[in-house]
Formats: sequence, C-alpha cells, structure tokens
Amino acid sequence: KADKGYIGHKAAKMMKRSKSIEKRQQAAVAAKSQLLKNLESSDSLKIAQLDYHKSRLAELEDVSIFYGTKAVCRNINFTIEQGDRIALLGKNGSGKSSILKLLCGEDISCTGNLRRGSGLKISYVAQDTSQLAGNLSDYAARYGVDESLFKAILRKLDFSRVQFEKDMSAFSAGQKKKVLIARSLCEKVHLHIWDEPLNYIDVISRMQIEELLLQYTPTILFVEHDSEFCKNIATKVIEL
Ligand SMILES: Nc1ncnc2c1ncn2[C@@H]1O[C@H](COP(=O)(O)OP(=O)(O)OP(=O)(O)O)[C@@H](O)[C@H]1O
Ligand SMILES: [Mg+2]
Repeated sequence: KADKGYIGHKAAKMMKRSKSIEKRQQAAVAAKSQLLKNLESSDSLKIAQLDYHKSRLAELEDVSIFYGTKAVCRNINFTIEQGDRIALLGKNGSGKSSILKLLCGEDISCTGNLRRGSGLKISYVAQDTSQLAGNLSDYAARYGVDESLFKAILRKLDFSRVQFEKDMSAFSAGQKKKVLIARSLCEKVHLHIWDEPLNYIDVISRMQIEELLLQYTPTILFVEHDSEFCKNIATKVIEL
C-alpha cells in the first residue's frame, strides 16, 4: 500500500521545484527584455575610415618574431585587403599581440617579409591599458582627435559626465578600454588594429561595438577571445 504521506510530500516538493524553475525563467525573460530596452535606448556608434588607394593594405610573408633568440611564432602568412575583418586567433603567449605591434611599426625583431602599403595609416588599440593616466582632454589633444566627438562617443558608451572630470588612472579596466576604443573611432585612418577590444567591456557596449562593425564594415585586424564575437564579425580567420 502506498504511503500517502510520502507521495504527498514528494508531490509538494515537485510543485515547489517547478515553481522555482518557472520563477527563474520569468527572471531570465525579464532580464533579457531589459537588456533589449537598454540596447534600443543606447546610441549607435559611428566610424569613418579613409579609403586606401590599393586593395592590399599589408602583407606578411613567412614572418617569425623573436625576443632574444626565442621565436614566439614562426612563418606567419596573411594579407590584409580593404574590407577585411580579420580575427587573429591563438592561445595565450602565441604571439598575437606581437604581430599587431609589429604591423603598427614597433621595433620588434623578426625575419621574413612584412610589407605595409606606403602611407598606410593605422589606428591601434593596445591590449594593455594599465598605463592610462591624466585627463580626457589632454588625451584627446595628445592623439590629435576632436575632443567633443571623443567625449560624445564615450557618452554613448555609457560614461557619465562626472566621469569626465576624473583622472583616467582612477577608471575601471572596462572604462579604460572604452577610452582607447573611443579614441580609435575618432582617428581617420585606413586600418584599425584592435587587441582584445572587449576585455572588461559590459554586454551593452559589446553589442554596440559589434553593431558598429557590421554596419560600417571598416577594415580591421583584431584579437579577441570572445568566440561568438569573432564568429559574427570576422570575414577571415588567421590561426597561430
Ligand atoms: N617585450 C618582450 N620581451 C620579451 N618577451 C616578450 C615581450 N613581449 C612579449 N614577450 C613574450 O612573447 C610571447 C608572446 O607574447 P604576446 O603578448 O605576443 O602573446 P599573445 O598571443 O598576445 O598572448 P595573450 O593572448 O596572452 O595576450 C610571450 O611568451 C611573451 O612572454
Ligand atoms: Mg595579447
């Protein structure tokens, strides 16, 4: 004979469980619709890139990079053509940042051929933001970008006006990255090179950035560990 007390207890427990699942689902739906609302009310970003006079911007042929005698990566081959959105993939320490720096003209020892188109202008967002200090106006002036445009972009990326008065060394890691991205969006260049642009960046701004790249289709070479972003954005993938 079944123990009614036991079954009753089980049934009550299951009911409670299904209620709590339902509650969680409702919370998830509410969170998602709030996110969509936030995204709708967030301003969209713009980028104006310069046209280059040739379709090929740069080319790496059998490039190997060395620190001392140690090679960090070997025989890298790829080209950057106008309109490319290239994701450079590889594990930590595989030399991704080094390749970006090399393309930006940093003095890194390498073998092979690195050809950069003549007069090619590049805007670079570094992976490391730890050195960022000083005020936003001086920073804009240092890079020769329009201060009001720069600050308008930061406002779109959810900076409050109070934040504008602070020293950048007091910014959070995500805010520092936004400073670099906003400055890069102001620079009139042929090629954008971004090293881990989404590091510490909140989900709304990630979506704004993704939307921007798909809408304005600038030529860009980037490193980003967010595989969903890479999948949505990249027209070309280079694996180290
Ligand atoms: N200035 C330097 N002097 C000596 N070694 C360096 C220097 N910069 C980088 N390295 C070394 O070269 C290797 C590649 O570094 P790099 O920063 O290019 O890798 P990465 O692919 O960008 O890695 P991560 O995904 O962690 O950013 C690492 O082992 C790093 O320690
Ligand atoms: Mg790196």
